[in-house]
Amino acid sequence: MRFSQRVFCGRLTANDVGQKVLLAGWVDAFRDHGGLLFVHLRDRSGIVQIVFSPEVASADVCQRAASLRSEYCIAVGGAVRARLPGTENPHIETSGIEVFVTELTVLAESDALPFAVSSKGMVAGAVSSGADNVAEELRLQYRYLDIRRPSMRDNLVARHRIFQCVREFLDSRGFVEVETPVLTASTPEGARDYLVPSRVHPKSFYALPQSPQLFKQLLMVGGMERYFQLARCFRDEDLRPNRQPEFTQLDIEASFIDEEFLYELLEELTVKMFAIGNIAVPRPFPRMTYAEAMDTTGSDRPDLRFGLRFVDVTDVFARTNYAIFRQILQRGGCIKGINVKGQSDKLSKNVLQNEYAKEIVPSFGAKGMTWMRAEGGKLESNIVQFFGPEELALLRRRFDVADGDVLLMIADPSYAVVTSALGQLRLHLANRLGLIPADSFRPVWITEFPLFEATEEGGVTSSHHPFTAPDRTDFDPKNVEELLKLRSRAYDLVMNGEELGGGSIRINKRDLQRKIFTALGLTEEDIKARFGFFLRAFDFGAPPHGGLALGMDRTVSMILQTPSIREVIAFPKNRSAACPLTGAPSTVKREQLAELGLLDLGGSVVLPGTAEKQDRVDRLSWLSRIGVAAEERALVEAVLDESGQLARLAGERAGQEQPVYSVAPVANRTRPGTEAKRSPLAASGQLLKSAPALKGSYYKVVSILD
Ligand code: AMO
Repeated sequence: MRFSQRVFCGRLTANDVGQKVLLAGWVDAFRDHGGLLFVHLRDRSGIVQIVFSPEVASADVCQRAASLRSEYCIAVGGAVRARLPGTENPHIETSGIEVFVTELTVLAESDALPFAVSSKGMVAGAVSSGADNVAEELRLQYRYLDIRRPSMRDNLVARHRIFQCVREFLDSRGFVEVETPVLTASTPEGARDYLVPSRVHPKSFYALPQSPQLFKQLLMVGGMERYFQLARCFRDEDLRPNRQPEFTQLDIEASFIDEEFLYELLEELTVKMFAIGNIAVPRPFPRMTYAEAMDTTGSDRPDLRFGLRFVDVTDVFARTNYAIFRQILQRGGCIKGINVKGQSDKLSKNVLQNEYAKEIVPSFGAKGMTWMRAEGGKLESNIVQFFGPEELALLRRRFDVADGDVLLMIADPSYAVVTSALGQLRLHLANRLGLIPADSFRPVWITEFPLFEATEEGGVTSSHHPFTAPDRTDFDPKNVEELLKLRSRAYDLVMNGEELGGGSIRINKRDLQRKIFTALGLTEEDIKARFGFFLRAFDFGAPPHGGLALGMDRTVSMILQTPSIREVIAFPKNRSAACPLTGAPSTVKREQLAELGLLDLGGSVVLPGTAEKQDRVDRLSWLSRIGVAAEERALVEAVLDESGQLARLAGERAGQEQPVYSVAPVANRTRPGTEAKRSPLAASGQLLKSAPALKGSYYKVVSILD
C-alpha cells in the first residue's frame, strides 16, 4: 500500500462518493451483520465506517477482516459510497458515507484493551460510555491509548492552536522567542527546587528553573527589549488540582514599558486565546486593588461571576448592646456581612443555625456567624432582640435589604479571620445556591499587592519575588513594620476565581535590588553567592523593564473547560507527583550514585553544631548526646573500630548466613578503678526502694543513681 496516497477518514464527504481511497488508522469498533462486517475506522481526523462485503471484497479479505479486533492498526483500500437513507450516523464526522473495502493490510495487532478507547456508538443513537468512568491512574498508565480517545486528542490539538495563536500574536507585536536554560542555578519563586546532580562536577547540582525570571531580566539587560517563551517550569511544592510539578508558562518581558503596556497586551492576547474556545471575554478587564479584593471578597483572586460582595458593618454596631459584637469591637475587631438576595426560601432558620453557624463557618476558621432573614418588612433571627431599632434600620440600609433576603455576618477581633471565613462562605453559598452562571468568564487585574509578607521568625518574605519594584524606594530595610506597609508594582490576572498569571515592573537599579535583598535578611555573603552574577549585570546599564507569566496549562484548561489541568497535558504527573506510565520518580543503581559522587554526600552546609565535629568520636558524642571524657576516647575508638570490622564482616557474609540478632555477648560491666565507691543509697536501702515496681512496661528506679 502506498501511504503517500492516503486520505484522512474524517475528511471524506459526499463529494468523494465514487472515489477509490486509501485509508489508515485504528479499529474503533466493529459489528458483524451476518457475513457483512462494519468497522469504524479512526484516525486523528475522525471516524469513517468501512464495510467488508462478500459482494465487493475477495473471500481472503473478508476472512482476514473477520479477525479484526478493537485498536488493530490497519490500512484499507476501497470505494466511497453514500449510505442508504436511514442508516446515517450523525455522531461521526462522515455521517452520510461509507467505504466498501477491497484491500486490507493489518499493520499491527492489539492486545485486549485495559479500557475502552471508542466513544462512538456504531448505530445512530447508541451510546458508548468510552473511558469517561475509567480511573485516572489507569488512563495515565496507558496514556497513549487515552490520547487515542477523541476528547484527549481534541484537547491536545486545541492546546496546539492556542500556543500557535500566542506565537503569532507576540511575533506581530515584535516579541522574540528565546530559550533559556533548564539546567541552571536556583531561581526563587517560593517553591522548592528540583536538583540535578552533575557528573562532571561531583557533589555539585544544577537546579531546574522555577521560572526563567532571572534569565528574562538578563535578556533585557542584553537589549532584547521584547522577549517571550513558552517555558517549562519546575516546582517542588504541595500539589493542588490546578498545579503540576512541571508546567508551562507563557513568559513575557519587555523593556521601556509600564503596567499599561502589559495590561493592553495581555488583554488582547487573552481575548484571542479564549476566542479559540468560542468564549467572548469582555474588555477592558476591570482592575481591583489587593486591599479592595480582600475587603469585598476575602480573596486576592476574587470570583466576579456572582455578587455576594462583603459589606462592612463595623460602624453600624459601634455602640451596640449585643455583648458578643461589643467585646469583639472593643478588641479592635471588625464585622462584615453578605446579603444573600432573595434566597430565604433556600436558607431556613434550621439550615442557617445548625449547618452554617454551628458547622460550616467554624470549619472556615471563624468562631461563629450571625444571621438574619428579611420577612414581612422585618429582620428575624435568633438574636434580633439584642439589637435596637436604629441599628436594624441602619443595617437594612447598608445591606439594601428586601423581603426574602438573608444577611450573614461574621465578627472577629482579627480582620484576616473575618475576610478568610466570609470569603470561603461566599464561595460555598454561590456553589450551593447555584449562583455561578455557566459560560461566564470574568477577568480582573489585581494590583497594589503588599511587597512583603511577615514570616514566623519576625522577618519578611517577598509576596511575589524579590525582583519586583516597590511603590517607593525611601524605606529602611531593617524596619519590618515599615516594610510590611510597602506596596509593590505587581499585578495578577485572575479569571473566574483562578490566578491565570502574574508579573510586575522590576527593579532596575542595583542599589535598590541590594536593599531588597537586605530587607529579606540576606547577608552580603548570601547575596554574592546566590545573586552575584545577577547584580553584576545591573552594573552595566539595565533598562527599566517588566513582564509577566501566564500559566498555560491553567489557561488552556479554562478555555476548554476541562475538570483538571491534567486533561490538557499529554503526559502529566498524578496527584502524588508521580508518572504512572514511566514509573518516575524511581530509585537508581548505586553505581549511578557513585559516578555522581553522591554515595557519601554530606551536603555543603552542615547541620548547626556539627561543623566542628569532624572527628568521629566528637561527632558520635554530639549525635548521641553522651559526653566522652579524654581518658575514654581510646576505648570509644576501639569500639568504633570493632563495630566497623563487624559491619564489614556482616557485609561479606551477607547472603551466606542467617542474620544474627545479637552480635556482642551480654555482660554486666562495673567501672574499674579505685574511685569506684559504694552508693550511700545502697547502704540506706534506698537504691532498691522502688524495685521491682512497674509503670506500664517499664521498671521504676530511684531518680538518681550515684
Ligand atoms: P508565578 O509564580 O505567579 O510568577 O507563576 C505564573 C503563573 O504560572 C502558573 N503556575 C502554575 N501552573 C501549574 N502548576 C504550577 N505548579 C504552577 N505554579 C504557577 C500560574 C501562575 O499565575 N516569574 C514570575 C512571573 C513574572 O514575574 O514575570 C512567575 O513565575 O498560572
